[in-house]
Amino acid sequence: MLSTSSISDIRTQITETRPAGADVSIISMVCPEIAATARPGNFVNIKVNSSDQPLLRRPFCIHNVRGNTIDVMVKTVGRGTSLLCDSACGTPIMVLGPLGNAFGTDTGDFDTALLVSGGIGTAPMLFLEKSLAETGLAFHHLVGGRTRSDLLTRGLSNCSTATDDGSEGFHGNVVELLRDHLASQPPSSRIKVFACGPNPMLKALAGFCRDRGIPCELSLESIMGCGVGICYGCMVELNNADGEKESILLCREGPIVDGNRFTS
Ligand SMILES: Cc1cc2nc3c(=O)[nH]c(=O)nc-3n(C[C@H](O)[C@H](O)[C@H](O)COP(=O)(O)OP(=O)(O)OC[C@H]3O[C@@H](n4cnc5c(N)ncnc54)[C@H](O)[C@@H]3O)c2cc1C
Ligand code: FES
Repeated sequence: MLSTSSISDIRTQITETRPAGADVSIISMVCPEIAATARPGNFVNIKVNSSDQPLLRRPFCIHNVRGNTIDVMVKTVGRGTSLLCDSACGTPIMVLGPLGNAFGTDTGDFDTALLVSGGIGTAPMLFLEKSLAETGLAFHHLVGGRTRSDLLTRGLSNCSTATDDGSEGFHGNVVELLRDHLASQPPSSRIKVFACGPNPMLKALAGFCRDRGIPCELSLESIMGCGVGICYGCMVELNNADGEKESILLCREGPIVDGNRFTS
């Protein structure tokens, strides 16, 4: 279901930075080797500057691939993301990727993909949408945020939105929007959910999908160091096939996991 790909470490520079929302930027860089083999759900690990502060790279989903160029969508939350978002065109960076596994779009068990995201979790969904569209599979985005300015829908097609405060779209969270959306679908629809967002949202979504027998894949986050299975900094606890807890390295076995592994 989930696949890996070959990895390159590329010395490149930022070619463009565009604002995409409150504290969010889309950052472009020419990375031909990564662009050639990247699949939706993969991530890159970026050394945001050439100094040792911050020392570690920072992981970001691949937001889009355009020819030799990859884009990442970055929300400023601390020093590394702030440096990256404030970097001028021409700033040198190191980009390691593509890393991790990919969303399982070729599993043959669905006709319609529901791409469910919250906040900056919308970052991998444009690349996923493009891949689904290329293979002729139907898709619909369900995008959630606390308020209107959290919705990162630019560039997406077939989109419904939900906000906690009702300032745009459905008034409620994105799992409630999913319930509402499913009520309007024919019972024969073969649906699969692909999701990315904050862990509490993903936990609720995974339980919802399990209870209804809907296949579901989640893109999880953890603190990461190396991104390639060496530092053991990205351990997360998931359910195994027997329902027992087991630890995995998210950078190597993830970041995409089966929703059933993330239920309580
Ligand atoms: C596989 C993966 C894909 C990701 N994709 C994206 C993306 O597409 N866009 C995006 O904006 N962010 C993404 N993130 C989160 C992003 O990596 C962190 O926000 C970033 O590393 C924070 O760096 P900082 O130096 O700005 O923050 P710091 O100053 O180090 O920390 C600020 C806050 O961010 C938290 N944090 C730090 N590192 C991570 C981390 N790796 N994951 C989650 N929280 C973290 C800290 O606990 C702290 O609360 C992804 C994370 C992972 C693991
Ligand atoms: S980030 Fe180093 S082992 Fe996963």
